[in-house]
Amino acid sequence: MTKRLIFLLFTIAPLLSIAQEPFKIKYGPYLQNVSENEATIVWVTSKDALSWVEIAPDDGTHFYAAERKQYFETENGRKLVGNIHKVTVKGLDKGTKYRYRLYSREVLDNYNWDTSYGKITASSSYQPFSFTTFDESKNEFSFAVVNDIHADTLALKELLNQVEINKKDFIVFNGDMMSHLNSEKLMFDGFINKSVEMFASNRPFILTRGNHETRGPFSTKYMDYFPSTTGKPYFSFRNGPAFFIMLDSGEDKPDTDIEYGGLSAFDEYREEQAEWLKKLVETDEFKNAPLKIVSIHIPAFTSTWYGTLHVEELFIPILNKAGIDLMFCGHTHQYEFINKGDKGNNFPIIINANRDIMDINVKENSINVVIKDIKGKITQEFNF
Ligand SMILES: [Fe+2]
Repeated sequence: MTKRLIFLLFTIAPLLSIAQEPFKIKYGPYLQNVSENEATIVWVTSKDALSWVEIAPDDGTHFYAAERKQYFETENGRKLVGNIHKVTVKGLDKGTKYRYRLYSREVLDNYNWDTSYGKITASSSYQPFSFTTFDESKNEFSFAVVNDIHADTLALKELLNQVEINKKDFIVFNGDMMSHLNSEKLMFDGFINKSVEMFASNRPFILTRGNHETRGPFSTKYMDYFPSTTGKPYFSFRNGPAFFIMLDSGEDKPDTDIEYGGLSAFDEYREEQAEWLKKLVETDEFKNAPLKIVSIHIPAFTSTWYGTLHVEELFIPILNKAGIDLMFCGHTHQYEFINKGDKGNNFPIIINANRDIMDINVKENSINVVIKDIKGKITQEFNF
């Protein structure tokens, strides 16, 4: 009898608590893929739902002044139902602030065309979120970079507090924000929830995948949460005078290493990425940009580990011919500066330490980098 009670306690009780979980916005929203005319808003609901975003101009009117245009996540003519919502708002004007709120309507049943709905949840229309689209024609903007946080949200908060976050167009997370992607909860607890609390519903973070984001069973879900224009963890974008290339250096040891449990295939992946990079640097969009910046987690020239050597072999020769103005990296947890020409690199490389933040101002023809430690003390400054 006692055994049966224990069985019930450990099997039925958790199921009942899941069934009783209220329908709600569980995580987010956070902004991804902001460009001159698009922005993607991502959030997670506790149960499957049909979701949409309402957009209003930043014109001083109340959100309820008019029926606001709704945007849904669609695929091949169907509105999607699920619990991870990625709504892309299109047709926007460049350099323009928009207000938004999100809606999710629980889907109880979706058999044939007999769709039945449950409760609705929404974000506030009294204090709507907002975002500003990028503008390639503007002469100046600023952003900040942190890396190797490894789920230390207190360090993330203290680092972000050292810059004027509300004046940044975006924040770059240059990899290893987590130690293992084992579950959705750990990923949100590890860095996204803190980002949402501080800025990410109103300005985007741009994640460069680190080797630790490739680890753990949940790592294969990466693109569900961090959509990109290429559909891959490597991608490019432009803001102001700067063209950004966000590369994915993969893992640091050979694919066959015991640590990866036989599940790594980064050799082929980096080669495929190098082919993409070769084509990218030949495009007019890249060539015509006054400034060219590369973000990659594992830095070349800092060790003789396999991943470092493969980055040197595949990516550096392409970038050396492409007129790159600055590359920034992380991974080693130590600050280092490799000046142009020092080690076979035809551009400067900054390796940002794990408890420093880079405050970067981009102007028409210059990049100013101020590195601050976690207490806000300026430790380095560069003008490129
Ligand atoms: Fe790393």
